[in-house]
Amino acid sequence: MVMEIRMNAIWCWINILLLISTLSNGVESQRRPLLVNFGDSNSDTGGVLAGIGLPIGLPNGITFFHRGTGRLGDGRLIIDFFCEHLKLSYLSPYLDSLSPNFSSGVNFAVSGATLLPKFVPFALSIQVRQFIHFKNRSLELLSLGSRDLINEEGFRSALYMIDIGQNDLQVALYASNITYRPVAKQIPSFVEEIRLAVQTIYQYGGRNFWIHNTGPLGCQPKELALHPHKSSDLDRVGCLRVHNRVAKTFNKGLRILTEDLRLVYKDAVIVYVDVYSVKYSLFANPEKYGFKNPFAACCGRGAPYFYDRNATCGQPGFSICRNVSESIVWDGVHYAEASNHVVAKRIQKGHYSTPKIKLEQFWYS
Ligand SMILES: *[C@@H]1O[C@H](CO)[C@@H](O)[C@H](O)[C@H]1NC(C)=O
Ligand SMILES: *[C@@H]1O[C@H](CO)[C@@H](O)[C@H](O)[C@H]1NC(C)=O
Ligand SMILES: *[C@@H]1O[C@H](CO)[C@@H](O)[C@H](O)[C@H]1NC(C)=O
Ligand SMILES: *[C@@H]1O[C@H](CO)[C@@H](O)[C@H](O)[C@H]1NC(C)=O
Ligand SMILES: *[C@@H]1O[C@H](CO)[C@@H](O)[C@H](O)[C@H]1NC(C)=O
Repeated sequence: MVMEIRMNAIWCWINILLLISTLSNGVESQRRPLLVNFGDSNSDTGGVLAGIGLPIGLPNGITFFHRGTGRLGDGRLIIDFFCEHLKLSYLSPYLDSLSPNFSSGVNFAVSGATLLPKFVPFALSIQVRQFIHFKNRSLELLSLGSRDLINEEGFRSALYMIDIGQNDLQVALYASNITYRPVAKQIPSFVEEIRLAVQTIYQYGGRNFWIHNTGPLGCQPKELALHPHKSSDLDRVGCLRVHNRVAKTFNKGLRILTEDLRLVYKDAVIVYVDVYSVKYSLFANPEKYGFKNPFAACCGRGAPYFYDRNATCGQPGFSICRNVSESIVWDGVHYAEASNHVVAKRIQKGHYSTPKIKLEQFWYS
């Protein structure tokens, strides 16, 4: 009798322990932040290097990684700062075949990627197809006993990030000899690709979306250097008007799209993030953030924009500015680590988001 009670007590205790461990596992897997990212060079953590072997080495990476990681920039990107904020390791590119670690999420972004298929073969729709395969294969491998992969609950609670469009706008602008109308006509077809991406990710279980709008293309040193302009072609800050008008039209389309999607997918959270305004404020008030010569790149050649297509960053003839932490733009196109840090800190707080949600709020309330 005593024995039986003791056995029962032990069983009960074991069951409680099991219950606690199941609950805490469940809570942990449910609450652990996970990022699934799609995009272009703004968030490529090594995709183009792994995917097409484009050699992106030093001087890219000089500020932080001290080696070429495939990131275009002197150091960390916005997405890297997001990972630090969420206490995650940096995201492995999906295309990286050499011991990737997908326990923090996965990055499908590839530099040069567009919405509509163009020069690099990883347009958004392809990145989304890769995601479908990635999810399917992850679940299959987990069922066979693999570890450090994302499970069904992880895919459901993950945040799906999209930052793409800049390359489509740039290509369209060049093709139209920098005129607004022909580009504006194509913008609905660009935005439509983002609708399709969200639709597909939703069908495959994604419920949380974080969509960046595009930055002020007309403030890039490369654009200012390559397109001869009069002062009337510039806005009050000194950026090219037509380029920024095109970017703003794209962003308006994107904002309206996210409003539509919220009505259709009522159980999803779809956040539109106004990266444009944050980036523009860097050029408008550089000294406020410790930047100097906002329209000069840091890695390149030539006054006043330090961009020369015959000596771009890393090509024979380039040089690097004295203090990269004072530059907004690294190579004429891609932002420097210091400005990525400012942008990440500001947007993760949610002040530039619709609806106003902090990054970490997807997992911790
Ligand atoms: C992958 O990263 C996670 C979190 O950073 C870590 O716990 C895990 O050990 C890593 N897995 C491998 C195989 O390195
Ligand atoms: C997922 O993988 C299974 C095999 O494990 C396959 O039968 C199925 O067609 C795949 N589904 C998709 C959508 O790729
Ligand atoms: C492109 O635009 C510039 C400035 O508006 C003009 O001078 C030039 O002739 C145009 N080139 C072509 C090929 O239309
Ligand atoms: C770049 O090189 C080309 C051909 O070598 C030359 O015609 C052009 O003037 C150069 N441009 C600059 C800005 O140096
Ligand atoms: C570089 O610029 C930053 C920001 O203005 C400043 O804090 C730092 O001291 C500078 N470093 C050097 C070596 O001049």
